[in-house]
Amino acid sequence: MGVPPPREFTELMGLARAYQRSQALAVAARLRIADALAAGPRSVADLASATDTDAPTLYRLLRALASIGVFTELAERSFANNPASEYLRSDHELSVAPAVEMFCAGYEWTAWGALDHSVRTGENAATHALGMDVWEYRRHDPEAGRTFDAAMRTLARGNRDEVAAHDFASYPVIADIGGGTGAFVCAVLSENPRQRAILFDQPHVVVNAPPTLAAAGVEERVEVVGGSFFDGVPPGADAYVLRRILHDWTDDACVEILCNVRRSMTPAARLIVIDAVVGPPNEDPFAKWLDLMMLVSAGGRERTDEEWVALLAEGGFRWVSTAAASATSSMIVAEPV
Ligand SMILES: C[S@@+](CC[C@H](N)C(=O)[O-])C[C@H]1O[C@@H](n2cnc3c(N)ncnc32)[C@H](O)[C@@H]1O
Repeated sequence: MGVPPPREFTELMGLARAYQRSQALAVAARLRIADALAAGPRSVADLASATDTDAPTLYRLLRALASIGVFTELAERSFANNPASEYLRSDHELSVAPAVEMFCAGYEWTAWGALDHSVRTGENAATHALGMDVWEYRRHDPEAGRTFDAAMRTLARGNRDEVAAHDFASYPVIADIGGGTGAFVCAVLSENPRQRAILFDQPHVVVNAPPTLAAAGVEERVEVVGGSFFDGVPPGADAYVLRRILHDWTDDACVEILCNVRRSMTPAARLIVIDAVVGPPNEDPFAKWLDLMMLVSAGGRERTDEEWVALLAEGGFRWVSTAAASATSSMIVAEPV
């Protein structure tokens, strides 16, 4: 028997090829294979005709995915969903399909191809590679925008423990600034039946919020406002939530956003930032890889405890507390100075 290669060698080779798995998963998500298997196992010939693909090639894709735990390969070239692929179904409450599609969308791949430009210059890779930032790109490509918004809904639903991590019930009105299509507002209001909310995001995003709000039965209690947080945000809330917003932006842009929020707040209102706090050396891969994604895609960064306190101060806020909100996020509370 030969000597197996060292573990580190095998791991590095796996890392070098990891993009192939991402792309294969994305193709299966785009083809809605998990939806096609929702009623039970099907032959690959049947799946190919349902998805308008080449049967022998679809077989190669699916057997490769099944070999790493996504779908189960059965006898005679047929496949079934398994616990992992169930999450690719578009009717799953925590469907990862939009996130998989968003991470592997063509413009994101193009941006990641310019990571070396970012590392050499410190500049945002997407702006360099696409000629515009991702927000503008998504405004011009409504399908890309809808996929991103759907991914954000799933990611917000997947972090419901954030709602229990803070006493949101103590605020009669909350404003979710950059709240997407309302998944977080729905989670908070569902727990607090008398609470009201303002949902604020870009006009082309909030226009798609009503179905999400209606499905949660909170539409009567939510005022939906379209605009840009670089121009100003609505007044009148007791708590202003910035969930996964500031990590999208440079420090200078964050100070602009914070100053605009500060201007709309009464002295008694509170700011609640939900974002990652970067952990110590050699730990916390989630925050550190999300940070690279911000470098490449959105153009922002993840921040350490000290960086958060300093940034808030620059934006006119006194830091009050930081607490773990979920496995991947912290809740930072601040008051206007
Ligand atoms: C990373 S997503 C987070 C969405 C939501 N807060 C959540 O946690 O799921 C960032 C959000 O910021 C919004 N956004 C980007 N630029 C904006 C602007 N200039 N004004 C208002 N919202 C903006 C995006 O439309 C998007 O919904």
